[in-house]
Amino acid sequence: HTYTAIVLAAGQGKRLGLGFNKQLLTLAGVPMIIHTLRLFARDEACANMIIVAREEEREQLAALVEQYDVPRVQCIITGGAERQDSVYAGLQVAKTALVLIHDGARPFTRQAVLRGLVNAAVETGAAIAAVPVKDTIKRVKSGVIEETIERAPLWAAQTPQAFQLPLIRQAHDEARAACYVGTDDASLVERLGREVAIVPSDDLNMKVTTPADVKVAEAILTERGHNDD
Ligand code: CTP
Ligand code: MG
Repeated sequence: HTYTAIVLAAGQGKRLGLGFNKQLLTLAGVPMIIHTLRLFARDEACANMIIVAREEEREQLAALVEQYDVPRVQCIITGGAERQDSVYAGLQVAKTALVLIHDGARPFTRQAVLRGLVNAAVETGAAIAAVPVKDTIKRVKSGVIEETIERAPLWAAQTPQAFQLPLIRQAHDEARAACYVGTDDASLVERLGREVAIVPSDDLNMKVTTPADVKVAEAILTERGHNDD
């Protein structure tokens, strides 16, 4: 089974505080978005990639795709104000029966996770990368703990999130119609009452969000020398 990777790069990276989009930040000398696109370039099951970008950065990204010779890029399209709007835009131009939606800010997904997602999404319709929660999670109100939530059943959602195209399109259409904004794509499928499978991933598949995360990402790349599995 082949799939389209929808790679999201239309944010602003405000929490990183660089003054420019974190997708363009170089990690070990290579822009983060290129590291991420290479995850899919290495995967033969990835038939094509749709890059979702800010309007004013499309040309710059196109130049990077050319400079780093990223293969199988179907198009670079303009995203929206919220992440969900950017995904929606990507879904409009996707053509394959299966899509993997991925944060441009997650450059370290393992190839085995990509394979697991494809297999699970073919079977179930929807599947996401996730890791068991390792912290103790408290529900807090006005600075005081209300409850300690049982950790055993808790998983932290990551991307990629894999879906059969008609299902994720329906989920996004219905979310829009209801003015529902979810923090990930799976939640839009969940609210339809459809099953979403979990594919165990690992902490390396972190989202580069804060300055501390940049240090971790650099350390990972220094140790590996490259970001292959
Ligand atoms: N994203 C997007 N369109 C948006 C917002 C986010 O395509 N309107 C993308 C980001 O580029 C990123 C991914 O969604 O790859 C995850 O979002 P996040 O980590 O929050 O990135 P930013 O929104 O760029 O960062 P911040 O929230 O700190 O501004
Ligand atoms: Mg954001």
